[in-house]
Amino acid sequence: MKSWLSCFNSACRAKYAVTEVLYNCPKCGSLIEAQYDFTGFDAEGLKFTWRERRMSNAPLDQSGVWRYRELFPFVKNEADIVTLREGNTPLLDAPRAALYAGLDRIVFKHQGFNPTGSFKDNGMTAGATQARALGMKRVACVSTGNTSASMAAYASAGGLEPLIFIPHGNISYGKLAQALEYGAKTFQVKANFDQILALVRALAERLGIYLLNSINPFRIEGQKSIVIEMMDQRDWRVPDWVALPGGNLGNVSAFGKGLREMHRLGIIDKLPRLAVIQAEGASPFYEYMHGSAEFHAQEHPETLATAIKIGDPVSWPKAQLEIETSIGAVERVSEQEIADAKAIIGQCGIGCEPASAATLAGVKKLAAAGVIAKDADVVGVLTGNVLKDPDYIYRYHTGQLKAPDDSAIQPTFGNGPVVVPNDPEKISALLDSIRPSR
Ligand code: F0G
Repeated sequence: MKSWLSCFNSACRAKYAVTEVLYNCPKCGSLIEAQYDFTGFDAEGLKFTWRERRMSNAPLDQSGVWRYRELFPFVKNEADIVTLREGNTPLLDAPRAALYAGLDRIVFKHQGFNPTGSFKDNGMTAGATQARALGMKRVACVSTGNTSASMAAYASAGGLEPLIFIPHGNISYGKLAQALEYGAKTFQVKANFDQILALVRALAERLGIYLLNSINPFRIEGQKSIVIEMMDQRDWRVPDWVALPGGNLGNVSAFGKGLREMHRLGIIDKLPRLAVIQAEGASPFYEYMHGSAEFHAQEHPETLATAIKIGDPVSWPKAQLEIETSIGAVERVSEQEIADAKAIIGQCGIGCEPASAATLAGVKKLAAAGVIAKDADVVGVLTGNVLKDPDYIYRYHTGQLKAPDDSAIQPTFGNGPVVVPNDPEKISALLDSIRPSR
């Protein structure tokens, strides 16, 4: 057996065929993960092959996920693979953001450059592929927006029927619009993300629908490619820190697994430290990792960074393992800190959606606390595109943004539009009077 599913619980470790439809271990209820027999793995040879594939016109080689397929070899029939040429996201230097965070340097891995504008595409190409391999017809997810946009696209591209469940009135229009445009049957449920996930899991079981939330182990396999590609782009030089926002905690689980596997296979020579950043109003993992004896879900999560508005993250046991193994850190940041960090990322000419900006806000806090050294080599992951939530941007820059508790968010780096008369004299005078703000 070259690939199989395994219970994540080290006390159980039950094994299942890769063709079983499983999200939790039937024996103990723990999370499930994919495992492989990597015997004979040739790290140096494959590094060369992966580089060579960048010059290829073959769809799988052009994908920044499937280019690295030897690290998640669960696909038997390549004809099942659904690709929109995902991945291939850049590493961008951001000196202004580094200055803001109190660091010498920060580089962003911008997942917003993906086909549907978020890191979800790295996982969805894998999840949709497995759905086809299993002969599934319908796929479903509950989402704070990006998963649904991505699933709608990949399901439709792969000839599957996408069903989407979203919290009513709580996702950005940019994301909802994508789901509709890509042809998903979309249900808005009057409940929060965590409640809807329980609903959809019951429905999936009852109706034989394949669930494509990040509890799906193949989504996690695809998302490993984010750190694999990042390491390839850095010529396999391991950074000191990789920072990312945490919601349902699937992404940090994927990063940690991918990094540990690369380390074990001799592709990289050490592990970077992982930093997960949560919004203050939706930070159950922060609470747990900072002293709670047990994990407690948060019943009413609140944040304007709707992508990470999750109170009961399913992947917390995996995330805990990855933070502990990498000697990482978990931080939380306020609405104001997220909003200001986002404007700074915008000033770098890069831009991102609110949840992504938690990365920079958290790195700044960890640097101020001395956890991240000033001269550390830091990669911050920006998870979603700036156009996902334009309403938030306009409100921030015009001083109209309000936190969930109705308090005003200060437009510290606000840049509202200026109304001017149709008069070149007056506009010239105005421009003369403006001093550069930087
Ligand atoms: N950033 C963005 C832009 C997201 O959309 C999400 C999750 C996260 C960060 C957090 O990632 O859940 O793996 O810890 N969005 C999910 C969704 C929940 O439904 O689109 P995570």
